[in-house]
Amino acid sequence: MQTQNTQQNLLGKHALITGGATGIGASVAANLLKHGAKVTIAGRTESSLQETQKNLSHLGQIYYVIVDVTNADSVKEGFTQAAEKNGAVDILINNAGQAVSTSFHNTDAKLWQDIIDVNLTGTFHCSKQVIPAMLDAGWGRIVNVSSITGVKGYAYVAAYSASKHGVIGLTRSLAVEFANKGITVNAVCPGFTDTNMVKDAVETIVKKWGATPEQALSNLVAANPQKKLIDPQEVADSILWLCMPHSSSINGQSIAIAGGEIM
Ligand code: NAI
Repeated sequence: MQTQNTQQNLLGKHALITGGATGIGASVAANLLKHGAKVTIAGRTESSLQETQKNLSHLGQIYYVIVDVTNADSVKEGFTQAAEKNGAVDILINNAGQAVSTSFHNTDAKLWQDIIDVNLTGTFHCSKQVIPAMLDAGWGRIVNVSSITGVKGYAYVAAYSASKHGVIGLTRSLAVEFANKGITVNAVCPGFTDTNMVKDAVETIVKKWGATPEQALSNLVAANPQKKLIDPQEVADSILWLCMPHSSSINGQSIAIAGGEIM
């Protein structure tokens, strides 16, 4: 989907990516920088934010802010700093996420709330921060990183799947609410993607079930008809496409990037 060009179609736009130091978020940051955007990556761990900033600074203007998306005050403070540095946020990628794989019996109220707080309420807090300025500008792009578990139920991830279904509901509602204001709100729904999140899932399966790492991985890829992990770059390329000025009619969509798992 991404063309290998150096077109600066996002020149001057300020993009903020939560969870931008690692995995899919870092690939999105690189993509947006290559297309001329000023990028702020937001996350909780300063050392990894600094490292990603250093690795990507040759591509353009990249800045970081410390933000815990579960905490409204932290989001407000971080987003205010980002706006002071780079101007109002034009593009928000709600990418920060957390997954825990366990049976429903072992899902207590705290685990349930923790997962909802990061994946769903975090998306709410961050969207609240940017929409007023997008309305003033008459232009905005919000892309929420949901999951294939946001459109289909899976065993052992009830809290995660519920939170990602919620992200799609929020996406659809905001898309309609702001449809005539120049703002689009979309979601991407990756299958198992080759990042730390999958490494952690493999470790959990090995620990809990005594499987080998190879067996654990093959269990994860089994649901994908293409029998492979998704490349984070492929997810980042779809997100880039949704951010482009010429994607203005694509709104309220949940795009599966999962090898045909959902048709
Ligand atoms: P990752 O673990 O590299 O990225 C998640 C990022 O979110 C990390 O940088 C983490 O520090 C950050 N984060 C977590 N809680 C946070 C909080 N409270 N405040 C701020 N930042 C926080 O893994 P990946 O795969 O790049 O994940 C990115 C998104 O993709 C997540 O929303 C995840 O749910 C989603 N996803 C991942 C899939 C996979 O198989 N890797 C499949 C489908 C969706």
